[in-house]
Amino acid sequence: MLKLRFMTLARHIIEGEKMHPEATGELSKLLSDLSLAAKVISLEVNKAGLADILGFTGSHNIHGEEVKKLDVFAHDMMFTAMDHGGHLCVMASEEEENLIHIPSHFKLGKYVLLFDPLDGSSNIDANISIGTIFSIYKRITPDGTPGTMEDCLQLGINQVAAGYIVYGSSTILVYTAGHGVHGFTLDPAFGEFLLSHENIKIPKKGRIYSINEGNYKYWHPGLKKYIKYLQEEDEDSGRPYSSRYIGSMVADIHRNLLYGGIFMYPADSRNPNGKLRLMYECNPMSFIVEAAGGRASDGKQRILEIKPEKLHQRVPIFIGSAEDVKLVENFIHSEKLGS
Ligand code: AHG
Ligand code: MN
Ligand code: MN
Repeated sequence: MLKLRFMTLARHIIEGEKMHPEATGELSKLLSDLSLAAKVISLEVNKAGLADILGFTGSHNIHGEEVKKLDVFAHDMMFTAMDHGGHLCVMASEEEENLIHIPSHFKLGKYVLLFDPLDGSSNIDANISIGTIFSIYKRITPDGTPGTMEDCLQLGINQVAAGYIVYGSSTILVYTAGHGVHGFTLDPAFGEFLLSHENIKIPKKGRIYSINEGNYKYWHPGLKKYIKYLQEEDEDSGRPYSSRYIGSMVADIHRNLLYGGIFMYPADSRNPNGKLRLMYECNPMSFIVEAAGGRASDGKQRILEIKPEKLHQRVPIFIGSAEDVKLVENFIHSEKLGS
């Protein structure tokens, strides 16, 4: 019991690597650098509402410094925390159109990092949960050379680790590096992430669905039928489901990971590829949810097996409890067959 309470993130990662004698410890260091960025972003998110009270005006703060939008701040923080550790050969972020190269005076490493620095950014001003998502691959180009687009555009199944941080009622970091999905809550008193959710398993079936129903008119007929089905009353199959939609993918999926349920951002007649991005939103979240026993697809195909074509490519996504995701796939498929 005592051991669990004091299991820090750093120690947990090192103990996880010990189970793999071939590990060099580099991934541990990389994840530890990431957790530093998470702590600084968490601090900034928590004081976001104080901007006016403390005299920040327009785009400048009381020191005359430029006040950055929180998503740009989070992007810069991730870069600053990760550029010099010697573990990465290249990075990519939602906030940067092109690849982010490691400055030439720093050592190049064997890993590739893709991230969404702040997910759910439209919720910032309303004090609603937002997060950071990250995805890590091993490079495929030769060591010692700058990383390339080829290193970034790998299949999701090749991820070696993925995680997210939710800045909510408390800050929690959830990651997987191939040996279970684990959650660590930030203790604000001494600034450490402590193990709070060991070996998370998503329930096989939930009673929550999360989707932006404002887009109903534009959905595929199979999806319309599925949502209506979830709203019908049937005790045996646990219906009706509850609808929960925060509008921050990372927070919506985190809740469903713990309670069970399905999160959807489908394709629709206005957005044939949906809205969410494959490389730094859908792939890492799918890697985590699958590692917790769940399922993630674009309605036809496993997200982790989609061949990436572009850094900022969008894909439809259905993700969460395995039985719920299978069912929506069936609804979409049957409608396509005209049944
Ligand atoms: P981001 O803030 O990184 O641009 O992502 C926002 C995304 C995602 O977090 C969320 O699930 C979705 O946008 C919400 O979109 P709608 O407002 O269309 O529902
Ligand atoms: Mn996002
Ligand atoms: Mn974002």
